[in-house]
Amino acid sequence: MKALTRKLTLRYGSLLRRYIAQTQEEVLAQANGLGRAAMAGGLGVLEMTRIHQTSMIQLLREAEFTESQAAVMQSSETFLLEALSPFEMTYRGFQETNIRLQHLIKDKENANFSLQREVDKRKQSEKILRARESRMHDLLAESQRLQQNLREYSSQILGIQEAERRRISRELHDDVGQALTAASIAFENLPSSHPGTPEASVQDARALLQDAMVKVHDFARDLRPTILDELGLLPALRSYLDRFAARTGLHITFRATQHAETLGEDEKITLFRVAQESLTNVAKHARAHSVKVTISRNRGKLRMDVCDDGQSFDPQNFDQAAKKHRLGLLGMQERVRLVNGSFSLLARPGKGTQIRVALPCQGPLGGPGSTNGKSGG
Ligand SMILES: Nc1ncnc2c1ncn2[C@@H]1O[C@H](COP(=O)(O)OP(=O)(O)OP(=O)(O)O)[C@@H](O)[C@H]1O
Ligand SMILES: [Mg+2]
Repeated sequence: MKALTRKLTLRYGSLLRRYIAQTQEEVLAQANGLGRAAMAGGLGVLEMTRIHQTSMIQLLREAEFTESQAAVMQSSETFLLEALSPFEMTYRGFQETNIRLQHLIKDKENANFSLQREVDKRKQSEKILRARESRMHDLLAESQRLQQNLREYSSQILGIQEAERRRISRELHDDVGQALTAASIAFENLPSSHPGTPEASVQDARALLQDAMVKVHDFARDLRPTILDELGLLPALRSYLDRFAARTGLHITFRATQHAETLGEDEKITLFRVAQESLTNVAKHARAHSVKVTISRNRGKLRMDVCDDGQSFDPQNFDQAAKKHRLGLLGMQERVRLVNGSFSLLARPGKGTQIRVALPCQGPLGGPGSTNGKSGG
């Protein structure tokens, strides 16, 4: 730095001397260049002023210096200003940059303020959202709990219903059936116990009683087929389908795998009830000629299909059924769900209806052991 100051001082003195002597523009330009070199070398305005002062003192001491003091002062001032002008320019540049920077900072502050407001707003919204989410979560948990309760209730109701059916069926069979049998025997003995009773009237009354006995037995069986508990699902279904075909004139084909007998009691009664309701629907609504009931084992599931060839219906009515208090299809679905099965209905208007139930099946793997049957009217 000192070497540079010395070098600049010498050059400054020589240029200043030339300028005072000749006041040439070209010398001023060199003074400007010297100022720029000083600035680039890290010198400040104070150092430049010192260099100027040193050069002036030197000049004023020189004897050959002849110009008037006023002219010297004027020229030296011009020279000094020119040498300082790079500093001035830079300083102005700094100032402008500073002002621009201040504006930028202000803008940034404003943007930051808006951003902070936006962040606060978002935080507030997030808080509300979280509160809502937690409320929804609670409501969902509550609704799941209620749903679970409902499931348990419907399972209990179905259990109670089956037990009640079993009791009524037994009473019908044992009490009413036996009473009718006793009445029939009494009528048989009427001609000998009451001679003169017209034979035709006795025969009519006996026929009516026989008919009533058959109806009571059928009703008792449909309510709860004891055969289901005693012999199993397939004999119970086969017996039911035979009687149903005889009653309705429908041509019913039955094909089933013995695996069905490995199902639990709840699953068996579910399949029986679904078959019962599906066939009742066929007789009531389908105008079908034939029905196929198939029980097969498929990919670890036991599947029952009930397919008729009737007129079927618009599947949209399926959703409408509950509104019209039709409970058959909904009841089937609910029963199947309670034993963790799946239920599906395929309605093809004009081409028949298919009801399909698939139940989880834990029975041993082995041959299909299928059994066939046909019931026809
Ligand atoms: N196999 C079928 N063929 C034609 N239509 C059917 C068949 N099964 C059901 N349906 C139609 O679906 C509707 C709903 O059946 P669902 O068993 O739920 O009620 P429902 O038999 O009318 O009355 P419920 O069974 O309660 O005594 C029926 O009214 C009928 O229009
Ligand atoms: Mg029905």
